[in-house]
Formats: sequence, C-alpha cells, structure tokens
Amino acid sequence: MMKKQLVTMNINGENMDLRVAPNDVLVEVLRKEANLTGTKKGCGQGDCGACTVIIDNKAVLSCLTLAMSAAGREITTIEGIADHKTGEMNAIQKSFLNHGAVQCGYCTPGMIMSSYNLLKNKPNPTRQEIRRALSGNLCRCTGYILILEAVQACAAEGGVN
Ligand code: FES
Ligand code: FES
Repeated sequence: MMKKQLVTMNINGENMDLRVAPNDVLVEVLRKEANLTGTKKGCGQGDCGACTVIIDNKAVLSCLTLAMSAAGREITTIEGIADHKTGEMNAIQKSFLNHGAVQCGYCTPGMIMSSYNLLKNKPNPTRQEIRRALSGNLCRCTGYILILEAVQACAAEGGVN
C-alpha cells in the first residue's frame, strides 16, 4: 500500500486537509476521508457516471481521477450545490424531484452534477445537448425521459442557482 500524506483539497468552497496516497482515486477520498458520501461509486471504471463531480467547471469521473491531481483545484460535489446557509436544495435537485426523475437514486448525484454543470455553462440547452451532457450517466430505473424533462424544465424555469 502506498503511504498516505496530508493534502489540502478545496471541496465545496472549503479547504480540507485529507489523508491521500498517490494512487488514491478521488471518489474514495471524497467518501472515506472527507465523509462526503453523496458521490456514488458504481462501476469504478468510467462506465456509469455515478461518481461525477465538478472540477474547475468541468464534469469529471471521480473514479478515474487521481485525488492528488485535484489538489489545488475547485472540487464541487453533490453536497456543495444546495444553499450553504439555508440548506435549501438547488433548483436542479428540486426539478428532479418534481418530475419523478429519481427512483432508486443511485445514479442521481452523478446525473445532477452533469446536469448542473451543463446548465451553469449553457443555460438554455437543446434536448440534444442535454442528451449529450448526460450520455455518460447510466440509469437502470427511470428510462431517462423524466430526467431529460427535469433538466429541460429547470432551464425553462430560470436555471440553476
Ligand atoms: S463509478 Fe465512476 S464511472 Fe462508474
Ligand atoms: S434512479 Fe435508479 S439507477 Fe437511476
């Protein structure tokens, strides 16, 4: 096992000193060292998108990202998009709930982070652009239509906060 060392990571706007080994992937560090278990690990090999987080404005797969490589960059997880002060859900989270786009919920944090990042960077995406942004996120339950509708409705209602 490689030796862990203390690394300062910026997660959801907060600097955290975490124990990280050179070969640790980000999803494990988020879940086990930072106790941010909202980010899910599905396949662990880049196929399902459950582990999606945002690093410096880009949606990335945290199961394929070395934690060390994310040090010094801005990491946003599902825990970071609700209102910091009130705890109120982000508009995209509400839209998923309102449209029945959540069933077992395992894919949901990844779906939401991909959707959130899309709407941040492109407030009025076409259906095709939404499909493309979510193409790396797999869902076994919903059949995708309700998810697409949730994203589209969120955009139409003023986008993400
Ligand atoms: S857990 Fe990362 S893509 Fe499946
Ligand atoms: S809601 Fe179950 S995998 Fe998507």
